[in-house]
Amino acid sequence: MLTVAVLISGAGSNLRALLEAAAHPDFPARVIAVGADREADGLAHAEEFGIPTFTVAYSAFPSREAWGEELAEQLDAWKPDLIVLSGLMRLLPASLVARYAPRIINTHPAYLPEFPGAHGVRDALAAGVDSTGASVIVVDDGVDSGPLLAQERIPVLPGDTESTLHERIKPVERRLLIDVVRRIATGELTL
Ligand code: GAR
Repeated sequence: MLTVAVLISGAGSNLRALLEAAAHPDFPARVIAVGADREADGLAHAEEFGIPTFTVAYSAFPSREAWGEELAEQLDAWKPDLIVLSGLMRLLPASLVARYAPRIINTHPAYLPEFPGAHGVRDALAAGVDSTGASVIVVDDGVDSGPLLAQERIPVLPGDTESTLHERIKPVERRLLIDVVRRIATGELTL
């Protein structure tokens, strides 16, 4: 059974989908802990599923490195086989990436390498493209620059706002994320 720790910053809707999938007895992975870099609403989903949570508030540390050291201590306590960044809106320090690489994956609401960064949906809309997408990647030292594990195109529709487009992207992200975690757990996909 593959053990998974998930890191979030926000609402955790993709986390919830993963928790629901992983609660199924046939799913080959289990979420063992959920962490956040702030008091994230999404931690409530983990609590509902009886999964332990932790918060390492970015604002409480003098530097990204110091925050990363405490985050690594928390993660080490769970010894996860895989770390999923599911809406974690912080870059991990290189030392933390190196400690777990290539076992950290990230979801992103764009068709990478198009529109990396914190505003993938907004940037796609601003560019006036007629399609964007959803991606799941391995985390490396860059900003959304690691190897692609899965991605899918999603059309931008006339009248789309950042919110309507993001809400159409998220179900695709969830499906891709759950499938990638399943394939890593079964050994179909090697990181
Ligand atoms: C997701 O769309 C995720 O891909 C994105 O934040 C959203 C989190 O939603 N992450 C990034 O943009 C990272 N660059 P959620 O909290 O409802 O799951």
